[in-house]
Amino acid sequence: MSQMEPIYLDNAATSHPKPESVYDAVIDALRSGGSPGRGHYRQTMAAERQVFETREALSELFNAGGSDRFVFGPNGTAAINLALFGLLKPGDRVVTTTVEHNAVSRPLRALQDRGVVVEKVAADPQSGIVSESDLQQACLREPTRLLVVNHCSNVIGSIQPITNMGRWCHDHDILFMLDGAQSAGMLPIDFQALNVDLFAAPGHKGLLGPQGTGFLFVKEGIELTPLIYGGTGANSHSDLQPQFLPERFESGTHNLPGLAGLRAGLTFLIKTGIPAIRAREVELTDRILTGLAGIEGVKLYGPEDVMMRGGAISFNVANQDPAEVGYALDQQRRISVRVGLHCAPDAHRSINTYPTGTVRVSPGYFTTDAEIESFLQVIQELSGKS
Ligand code: ALA
Repeated sequence: MSQMEPIYLDNAATSHPKPESVYDAVIDALRSGGSPGRGHYRQTMAAERQVFETREALSELFNAGGSDRFVFGPNGTAAINLALFGLLKPGDRVVTTTVEHNAVSRPLRALQDRGVVVEKVAADPQSGIVSESDLQQACLREPTRLLVVNHCSNVIGSIQPITNMGRWCHDHDILFMLDGAQSAGMLPIDFQALNVDLFAAPGHKGLLGPQGTGFLFVKEGIELTPLIYGGTGANSHSDLQPQFLPERFESGTHNLPGLAGLRAGLTFLIKTGIPAIRAREVELTDRILTGLAGIEGVKLYGPEDVMMRGGAISFNVANQDPAEVGYALDQQRRISVRVGLHCAPDAHRSINTYPTGTVRVSPGYFTTDAEIESFLQVIQELSGKS
């Protein structure tokens, strides 16, 4: 077993491997030093440029129409917290779904305790998809401040039908936010066409950057209260937090090596093209779904149509706890998958897999066909034992 190459199929947790250029960029930034925006010597200015170019690459990838509305932080969860706690006040009403990750549902639960009203719209128990009209009806039931939707489920890959929701929300004076943790870098996303007001994502999943990176996009005109106050490198004479973005929400020293790595990841995506990335994801997802569907005793969750799916595939093997299946994959063939509730208990309640959860397999752009065959072979063997 020790000669076996490990097979990584947990890209929904964090993408691995990264393009070589990402590793190089992290090391180069660490070696070069300099703190972005802190001083006017060559090192700091080069560091500042690096961060600026990362923002520019995000703006290009998402057709945002300008880079200064991208706010960097340590991860997607921090970005979501900034959006929700920065926006919502007691008495505000929020509509969301039953397939959210804890990154959204826990801040909303805490905000409920402060007087924010939260309505969750149920997803279909098989597909995990929430209907557009159900979302709209829920939004119209009472005056609503925000609609927040998990673009693509980290549990079952369901892609929510949000193409027209941003325009609809705008017409009804409701703000529209997407949690793009599982869609950024994997699906074609155009902020201007979608009319998103807020979009949060980590840098280390589909965007192929290092852990410790994430961003919130805040559309022009949206006012948020900062969660963190402090030094920004700008307006140092004042004890007031700057009003302008991104400084208003970026107090403290940036994660320069992380952002340099993220920039390299974004450059790889822009060069490769999201359509090519998505086509490979669909191909791998289809292969996994077809293979699992042909194994007796395997139950699959999520949309039947592969085009309604991102790269997270959940399943169970009859009479086997998902934890046992995950353990067997790791022990027998060094295959990494994530089992259990995936930090999204609501999503599991929606598809009736709470509390034991599912086995989740999530390929990435660099996953090979041979790796998928090895995975399917182990599941075939395990199902024979059930
Ligand atoms: N949210 C990540 C996952 O789904 C960590 O595994």
